[in-house]
Amino acid sequence: MAKAVMTFPADFRWGTATAAYQVEGNNTNSDWWQWEHSGSNILEGHKSGLASDWWQNAEADLDLAAEMGNNAHRLSLEWSRIEPEPSVFDQAALDRYRQILQAMHDRGIEPMVTLHHFSNPIWLAEKGDFNSSLVLDYFKRYTAKVVDALGDLIPKWVTINEPMVYAVLRYLDGVFPAPQRKGYGAALEAVGNMLRCHAAAYHIIKEQYPQAEVGIAKNTAVLEPAPGGMLNGWWARKASWFYNEAIWDTLVDGRFRWPFGHGKVDGLAGSFDFIGINYYTRFYLKFPPRGKLWEEEWGPEAVVSDGNYGEVYPEGLFRVIKSVLKYDKPIYITENGLPDATDRLRPSYLITHLREIWRAISFCYPVMGYYHWSLVDNFEWDRGWTQRFGLIELDPETQERKLRKSGQLYGEMCRSGSLSSEMAEQYAPDLIPALFPGQVPERDS
Ligand code: FCB
Repeated sequence: MAKAVMTFPADFRWGTATAAYQVEGNNTNSDWWQWEHSGSNILEGHKSGLASDWWQNAEADLDLAAEMGNNAHRLSLEWSRIEPEPSVFDQAALDRYRQILQAMHDRGIEPMVTLHHFSNPIWLAEKGDFNSSLVLDYFKRYTAKVVDALGDLIPKWVTINEPMVYAVLRYLDGVFPAPQRKGYGAALEAVGNMLRCHAAAYHIIKEQYPQAEVGIAKNTAVLEPAPGGMLNGWWARKASWFYNEAIWDTLVDGRFRWPFGHGKVDGLAGSFDFIGINYYTRFYLKFPPRGKLWEEEWGPEAVVSDGNYGEVYPEGLFRVIKSVLKYDKPIYITENGLPDATDRLRPSYLITHLREIWRAISFCYPVMGYYHWSLVDNFEWDRGWTQRFGLIELDPETQERKLRKSGQLYGEMCRSGSLSSEMAEQYAPDLIPALFPGQVPERDS
């Protein structure tokens, strides 16, 4: 049987993503460490501990990423390591980050670096972090330090990860480290300050490295009306604009036009070189919302990943890509993945989601790269170790790692720069009739 091949552009970024707090281990100066060690804030009382041991040995996983043929990786820097006390910068921490970034370059892996990925130094949290106007000067100084020390090794930057998720989980749902003030007002104020920090960081980076690409990684979900309920459709459209698009609109002209606040942020207009999309799933909305923005309920046909995390909905990736074309910027899928400890769904998830990207590229949509979340199992915030997102399976007790079957598949895709019917046949044969019609293998009679 002839094989069918979906080929990606030669310069496509085949990557994976991680975040500092989730993989490094022993980030004792972070507000997350405090949160983990007080009360019962983490599912099953889990602790990050050594996490995936990246502070000592990121190289072990980078070796596996290189063997998989990855040519890109998104990682974050832990502000609380770099500036453990206000104005005290730790040169040894910066040196270690230099070593990790250099290790990536040595393996042909291009770094994309996130400055803020959900974690704050304890001292900053004590000063009110994103609810204090002080944060802007602190963030500028932290960024300038990082740009000076590491900028020559960083071609791509994400200033802030998922401002909306951060606001919802921290200020509304209360599952992230408790801020000094909670509620809608505090949440919107925090997002506003995150955007101020973003704008400032954008210009600090570009001043020294005009060629660097700088953007935000934005969680983008397909939000649809739950069946029934006359106002569900109206509400889903409103919520979808606010959750998915309001931030990009703000970046276009530097103006907020949000519920409870209008305003302009200096330097924000045009401060993005790419759109970073973190896509996981779709949610259904009911009006009026009952305590939560969306329902964690799926239709009877839905394929749902571990811990009721979300529905597997690959077409959603195409839909969210399409929804940001109007901003006319290159697009990176800066996160996409699922919790799946036994790898029952991940091989087909990879094939179906990358096929949606291939489809988008074949329409000339500017999708430049894909960073699978995640390279290795890691500490999943308030859900601790209960959710395993890695292409590499990790036993956090022994630090033993093993490439999952999905990791082997991703390796085949990355090394060949393509997705083929042969791969589907080997890793997810059930997909053949739908994805590669005409490629149905002849069965022995
Ligand atoms: C995203 C976060 C990332 C990880 C994945 C599963 O929202 O950016 O750190 O938790 O979800």
